[in-house]
Amino acid sequence: MLSNYINRDKIYIEDIAKYEGQKVTLYGWLYNKRLKGKLAFLLLRDGTGIIQCVMSVADVGEEIFQRAEEVTQESSIVVSGQVRADQRAPGGYEILADDLQIVHLAKDYPITPKEHGTTFLMDHRHLWLRSRKQNAILRIRHTIIQSIRDFFDQQKFVLIDAPIFTPAACEGTTTLFETDYFDTKAYLTQSGQLYMEAAAMAFGKVYCFGPTFRAEKSKTRRHLTEFWMVEPEVAYMDLDGAMELAENLVAYIVERVLDKHQEQLKILERDTQKLELIKTPFPRIHYDEAAKILKEAGSEFVYGDDFGGGDETIISNQFDRPVMVHRYPAAVKAFYMKNDPEDPERALCVDMLAPEGYGEIIGGGQREDDYDTLVQKIEHHGLPQSAFEWYLDLRRYGSVPHSGFGLGIERTVAWICGLHHVRETIPFPRLMHRLYP
Ligand code: 4AD
Ligand code: MG
Repeated sequence: MLSNYINRDKIYIEDIAKYEGQKVTLYGWLYNKRLKGKLAFLLLRDGTGIIQCVMSVADVGEEIFQRAEEVTQESSIVVSGQVRADQRAPGGYEILADDLQIVHLAKDYPITPKEHGTTFLMDHRHLWLRSRKQNAILRIRHTIIQSIRDFFDQQKFVLIDAPIFTPAACEGTTTLFETDYFDTKAYLTQSGQLYMEAAAMAFGKVYCFGPTFRAEKSKTRRHLTEFWMVEPEVAYMDLDGAMELAENLVAYIVERVLDKHQEQLKILERDTQKLELIKTPFPRIHYDEAAKILKEAGSEFVYGDDFGGGDETIISNQFDRPVMVHRYPAAVKAFYMKNDPEDPERALCVDMLAPEGYGEIIGGGQREDDYDTLVQKIEHHGLPQSAFEWYLDLRRYGSVPHSGFGLGIERTVAWICGLHHVRETIPFPRLMHRLYP
């Protein structure tokens, strides 16, 4: 009976140091095992860590030892024994086992310790999550999200949730996911920004944190169709204020991860010295300066365009910390951006490019606050003004200069963990060709 094994006061491996010399019972799964004559070395994982349980036939007798011989990878098991400090053991502790119960025997677990291709692993993502590396990544993701929440909460921002169903585009019409909404159409949100602008006028400083959706047809290592974004928005703040907020946020996130996750970063073989460099102030360069870097590097980049992924890598490789590129040509940016009054062809916008070729992790800037100009921009971008009447109200009733940005969680996790592709930074990734599991 599986229900025989329920225990509400479980001891977890992450707390095992507190129990040195004591007898404990651990509840988990068999990660791997090694049999050596009359000894069995069982690696038990419980989600919080992995610990080696050493069992000898002389201590436990034939019957229990036989279970150690039978037990298979990812079977659920309960092990009792004494906690012993051992320098050589991974994690510094092991269990001198005196009992082993098999809760459920797993047959032919598909992910074996040998190498598997990414497609196979992605098809088994629901099981792949149990592996040491995926555990490390998603724990770091957790801390990144927690640190973001702490950062804004400490500065008294109010969390305002943005809707998922929206009547209109925020980030261009080419990546909209359309869905039937009774007898009309709705779109899955691309960004909570427009709603945060309304909320900033109501609460001063706000942020949202939630899933956003883009029908990205590009198959790159930086694009998901469903990704999570945190979007602060502040009334009476300009572009410089947004850049300062952005660099403080990113430096804080990295500091928290370094503080808490040395063990996980080691599992990921991350070069933490590169992360130690992430201190404010971050370099700020004008779009023209970035264009110059690309020209000197011999890129095929055309002046006036937005940067491609390869271009971002070239630019970011010039710096050992994230670089903020500001004042892109207004023509390549979204309708809501304010033009620079001192250089009207430019938008008061910023992209933060992460180092080591991870590309854009933040996009944002100062918003157009003038009613007439905004109406023109909506028209110029071919957007239906009727869907934006509520947004125009913010410029009809007490308009103020205001700014904000969006930070993509998955790209931030990829960078901090040093991962090649964003697909491993989210529990169940959604890509153009991936909707399962
Ligand atoms: O630069 P983006 O498109 O900016 C906005 O959506 C603004 N409305 C945000 C704001 O000002 N409130 O997206 C912001 C960030 C990017 O820098 C990137 O990190 C992430 O969102 N991002 C993606 N991440 C994964 N997959 C995708 N397809 C992404 N598209 C954007
Ligand atoms: Mg962007």
